[in-house]
Amino acid sequence: MDVWPETVAVRDGHLAVGGCDLVALAEQHGTPLYVFDEVTLRGAMRTYRAAFAAAYPAQHRVHYASKALLNTALAQIVAEEGLGLDVVSAAELRVAQRAGVPMEHVHLHGNAKSALELERALAWNVGAIVVDNLDELAHLCALTAHRPQPQGVLLRLAPDIAAQTHAHIATGSSDAKFGLPLAALDAAVTQLLAAPGLHLLGLHAHIGSQLFRLDQLQATVQVLLEAAVYVRDQYGYTVTELSPGGGLGVPYTTEQPPTDICGYATMLAATLTDACTRANFPLPRLTIEPGRSIIARAGVALYRVIGRKYAPDGRLLYLHVDGGMADNLRPALYGARYSALLANRAAEPADTVVAVAGRYCESGDILLRDIALPSGASGDVLAVATAGAYTLSMASTYNLVPRPAVLLLAGGSARLIQRRETEEELLARDIVL
Ligand SMILES: Cc1ncc(COP(=O)(O)O)c(C=O)c1O
Repeated sequence: MDVWPETVAVRDGHLAVGGCDLVALAEQHGTPLYVFDEVTLRGAMRTYRAAFAAAYPAQHRVHYASKALLNTALAQIVAEEGLGLDVVSAAELRVAQRAGVPMEHVHLHGNAKSALELERALAWNVGAIVVDNLDELAHLCALTAHRPQPQGVLLRLAPDIAAQTHAHIATGSSDAKFGLPLAALDAAVTQLLAAPGLHLLGLHAHIGSQLFRLDQLQATVQVLLEAAVYVRDQYGYTVTELSPGGGLGVPYTTEQPPTDICGYATMLAATLTDACTRANFPLPRLTIEPGRSIIARAGVALYRVIGRKYAPDGRLLYLHVDGGMADNLRPALYGARYSALLANRAAEPADTVVAVAGRYCESGDILLRDIALPSGASGDVLAVATAGAYTLSMASTYNLVPRPAVLLLAGGSARLIQRRETEEELLARDIVL
């Protein structure tokens, strides 16, 4: 049951999370609706912090990668749990600020940061800007030339590791769009060490997302340390921070292995400690950036079944639901699979194999393929598990459908943390001729 939130239960035939009846919530708040289990969410954050504190007592930081999902309440929880935050845009920076995340625990990422984003990050004194390429570095050198306090930076390297995951979320090869090829390390370090307004804190890499091969993450740490040793030997400069990014995988279906945060922490810590000992390198701060493995499992997406489509031979082909690719692009974008239940028939046998079609005007908008469910009818409530990561954060307003509301569930009560978008908001940007 690792795909559902920790508090999942079936009560009177209805699916419940955080002590709340999901069918009642769908009725009360409308659908599509995204609900998050606070126990699962905080639990994942605490497991990360405890696992790294135990495995790597030297300085470490856990930053939540907000691209997986961000809203102000979530950023407040991040701050309360003592995590830092990785952001990629000016508005994400604003969310971090208004949620009270200390700016020294905020890192700005991105392969194409705008001038506004860099200037805001500099003005607000973020902990680090993660430099992606030499053009960005030149831009930053110019922006910080007269800065009294140097801005900390990490250099993002492309470690040339082809992560075993879907091509769209593999980011570690040297020809991926992210990061400096190792061959550009000299040019970057030379520029950085000569820049009065910048302070090289360390090196970063992120090879991809939804990773189960720990050996590839281990290799990433090794490449980072080799690069750090090279910088020390060539330039007499010792970096103090290494970040192998995020990427730990989560199960979306029961065939996939469970998320092993403790195993991941132990492996990263042991690899880094061994490599440092061998190279006589002082233990750096270890910064990790999990996104999916913090937020995915806490989230459940609720949809209303609107209708059905049958084949000429009478087979049930599709359940049509009132959401789809505009609130969860992952199935259409890279064939992602999910587990699901009918929340109002949670105790009934899943004896019908169907596809669940989203409501949007693309044939590729199929949320679930070959999913076994109880035979459903219009009005049923479909609950999709592990729906927290890279769903709403990539939501669009395709077909001008307002984006869903978000609830935080705990102890039998549901708090609205993001309300449903309104038609007025959708039309507000249009200028009538
Ligand atoms: C630089 C960086 N760090 C961290 C993450 C988070 O990855 P995940 O959500 O797989 O943990 C990403 C997302 O791909 C990323 O691009």
